[in-house]
Amino acid sequence: MPTVQASAISHPNIAFIKYWGNVDHNLRIPVNGSISMNLAGLETRTTVTFDASLQSDQLTLNGSNANGAALERVSAFLDHVRTLAGINQCARVTSKNNFPAGAGIASSSSAFAALALAATTAAGLSLDTAELSRIARRGSGSASRSVPGGFVEWHAGSDHETSFAESIAPADHWALNDCVAIVSKSHKETGSTEGHTMAPTSSLQDSRVAGAPARLDIVRQAILERDFGTFASMVELDSNMMHAVMMTSQPPLIYWQPATLAIMQAVGQWRREGLDVCYTIDAGPNVHVICSADQSDTVQKMLAEIPGVSDVLRASPGGPTHLQKDAA
Ligand code: PMV
Repeated sequence: MPTVQASAISHPNIAFIKYWGNVDHNLRIPVNGSISMNLAGLETRTTVTFDASLQSDQLTLNGSNANGAALERVSAFLDHVRTLAGINQCARVTSKNNFPAGAGIASSSSAFAALALAATTAAGLSLDTAELSRIARRGSGSASRSVPGGFVEWHAGSDHETSFAESIAPADHWALNDCVAIVSKSHKETGSTEGHTMAPTSSLQDSRVAGAPARLDIVRQAILERDFGTFASMVELDSNMMHAVMMTSQPPLIYWQPATLAIMQAVGQWRREGLDVCYTIDAGPNVHVICSADQSDTVQKMLAEIPGVSDVLRASPGGPTHLQKDAA
């Protein structure tokens, strides 16, 4: 095993066509494909060191020792890498986000994408983007989309080999910004791993999934043509459909707060008034407001004035997961 330590940097992503529900929970094969954008400026930095003297895997998250569920999930992920590389050493994993925890940014996407690259490199493997995306998917579905750069599509596929993400356009293709309106920083009660298992309990899920290929085609084309109007209506529809499924699951998952709805309505009004702006919401109350970069100062200011909004983060399209060469 020539290399024992490697560090990687990854950006979280925001989905424009959402992933909600799996056909295979263990492999995280999704019921539908999805499309997202990586978020520049927001990043996870992860260092993995395989060390023959360790008796168990160790995890430090944002400066604190992590045990329990977080460590188990990382250890299970490292097992996939160990199997692939044919090694059995335990590892020390140190991971840091530069964005606040619970800020409505999917930290598992950048976390497992960075871990996939750092761990496979430290284990002596050199994988192409598609293979790295498949491995990252085992940690968190959305992590498969943080591996390639810019605007990314995750092909649902039907097995490990066919389920991976690839770039559909580079980060500089379209000057969009994501203004993330923070409504609550408290930890969500039901995380997405559990939420995916509940998706089939909604009678709306089948119809959401049946329409996903058409919505994927429209959003992919709108991105390629930089057609904001078409993009905006389809992104909002897809987010609303996912939340309709969540709200009609058993038990129901209601992630919105009153301020979430206030932002959704304000964004609709701003678009009618001529701004290139639309919203999308993940498994939490915070709202990702997508707008053209040249209008994002205005949008950020207006969002900050809505009662209940405590902060607004801003990100432009981000590049792929990459190695951090100068890491200590
Ligand atoms: O990758 P997970 O298991 O955290 O699921 C992500 C689910 C959503 O963020 C709600 C949608 C998506 O496609 O990112």
